[in-house]
Amino acid sequence: EFAKGVNGLDKIILRESRGSSAEVYLYGAHVTSWKNDHGEELLFVSNKAIFKPPKAIRGGIPICFPQFANHGPLESHGFARNRFWDVDNDPPPFPTPTHSKAYVDLILRPSEDDVKVWPHSYEFRLRVALGPGGDLMLTSRVRNTNSDGKPFSFSFAYHTYFSVSDISEVRVEGLETLDYFDNLKSRERFTEQGDAITFESEVDKIYLSTPTKIAILDHEKKRTFVVRKDGLPDAVVWNPWDKKAKAMADFGDDEYKHMLCVEAAAIEKHITLKPGEEWKGRLELSAVPSSYCSGQ
Ligand code: BG6
Repeated sequence: EFAKGVNGLDKIILRESRGSSAEVYLYGAHVTSWKNDHGEELLFVSNKAIFKPPKAIRGGIPICFPQFANHGPLESHGFARNRFWDVDNDPPPFPTPTHSKAYVDLILRPSEDDVKVWPHSYEFRLRVALGPGGDLMLTSRVRNTNSDGKPFSFSFAYHTYFSVSDISEVRVEGLETLDYFDNLKSRERFTEQGDAITFESEVDKIYLSTPTKIAILDHEKKRTFVVRKDGLPDAVVWNPWDKKAKAMADFGDDEYKHMLCVEAAAIEKHITLKPGEEWKGRLELSAVPSSYCSGQ
């Protein structure tokens, strides 16, 4: 169903029969809400988020494409998150059907101005779907439609902002003992030691070649988010903490306590597509009540 969001921006609301829902803005193909069947919001969106181009919406699930962060000449996280996408009424079929009636297909093609900053022709299709159990599934398909025979390379991230009750009570499982780049230390390569990851200061790390499943345990809420990903070997973990929070105009000073970004990504090894080739990257999120033995 179509609706008007903040500042009159168009959004699409997906509803699943058991009560879960999601909202997607055409601006950025940006998921700004994902609610379980109790109506509880599972994604974080800042109270100070600016819903106005060219600023990307602070929170939800920004799409980072064709560049991650400032790892290249383009604007931070590329331009897909601050372009207006179209509804794709006739997407090419998926090899496996989406087991959902609540979904929407969006498409981004480069404008003349986009070609000046990234000189390639492509079709970027995104399907956002709600599963019968309330799972949120995002599938990105990027196709090289260059007619000059040239390949192109890009990096990518689903920059998901999870809503958590208290960051100091959160731990992330599935990234132990992995190699990572630390963006706070001029991108040096380190190896994670020890147990699950917990938070007591700013974090900005890119974990490399991670498992396809990562869990975010929120003890206070007794909720576990399970992130499943495919085609996306890396995972970024980001929390700006107090100082950086204050420096961001579109983020409240204390909001860092209530969010955590865990981003399914392809960063270390760029994806390269020859003309006619297509890449697919899938993200599946579920939120389940934590049992006593979760994480054991
Ligand atoms: C994270 C990056 O993914 O996004 C951080 O690792 C960055 O370095 C953060 O600060 C937010 O980026 P932006 O452009 O949305 O302010």
